[in-house]
Amino acid sequence: RAGLKYFGSATDSPGQRERAPYATAYPQYDAIMWDSGEFGQTTPTNGQKWTFVEPQKGIFNFTEGEIVATKARDAGMYLRCHALVWHSQLAPWVESTTWTPDALRVAIVSHITNVVGHWKGRCYAWDVVNEALNEDGTYRNSVFYQVLGEDYIKLAFETASKIDPSAKLYYNDYNLESPGAKVDGAKRIVKLLQGAGIKIDGVGLQAHLVAESHPTLDQHIEAIHGFASLGVEVALTELDIRLQTPATATNLALQKEAYKNVVGACAQVKGCIGVTIWDFYDPFSWVPSVFSGQGAALLWFDNFTTHPAYDGVVEAL
Ligand code: XIL
Repeated sequence: RAGLKYFGSATDSPGQRERAPYATAYPQYDAIMWDSGEFGQTTPTNGQKWTFVEPQKGIFNFTEGEIVATKARDAGMYLRCHALVWHSQLAPWVESTTWTPDALRVAIVSHITNVVGHWKGRCYAWDVVNEALNEDGTYRNSVFYQVLGEDYIKLAFETASKIDPSAKLYYNDYNLESPGAKVDGAKRIVKLLQGAGIKIDGVGLQAHLVAESHPTLDQHIEAIHGFASLGVEVALTELDIRLQTPATATNLALQKEAYKNVVGACAQVKGCIGVTIWDFYDPFSWVPSVFSGQGAALLWFDNFTTHPAYDGVVEAL
């Protein structure tokens, strides 16, 4: 389906220049990221997260997030903005404060007002709430949930919609790519907001998948279609498909099939509007540092040749 709005990649550039391999790799990396025409969209991997943009209460710093946002504008790419309310990479002061409900509401409103206000008109979409769910579909016990219950979700979307009415507002989470309890939980969030008359435009399926045990095309289609039938759009927002390292012909073939399934499902279901891979270059992936023994999750190897999965994506689109 030529209907996808974009195929993009998240990037941390130039934050990642500090990493060892990047010192020599960055000209080639940047050429692929910004100049090759491979990507029509990007997301700052880290720079718009709470710990970067409001490291201290009321002190805002948009420098890191602005790097990728500016590059995106210059390159004419769609920008997905990520992420407003999330339990992780939260500024330490948010977690160390003993909140009254009113004070936390004020802090959330201030955060969203300033951050969404700064990038107003430039974000195709905002991930307004990220990872609010446990695997069984119940709410994650974050500081936000502990103090405010599910009202924090309503407050976040309501505030974002007032500050930038042109941005698509998304709920974003992982393990939403095939049907199950967590998908049901995310649908409950969509209905909670719709029922309260609060704007929600989309659900982001992070799509951090595993090559050796990936869902089928039909499972992906069912999950995506289930969200779309609620009247929201869907995007794959952080796609990567890790494998047990080292990469072999066998696990790379499984990875190709997995990429083809999930991108193919998005391309086939009306309402799935775009795909973002969570960086494109294996040395810059978050995977090896978090999932030990796993890696090679992206589409470009260390030496800048492409994975078989690159062809899988091309076949799927
Ligand atoms: C990851 C980044 O890729 C890392 O660089 C960082 O150290 C931790 O966060 N879900 C998300 C993303 O929504 O923001 C996370 O990104 C990966 C999981």
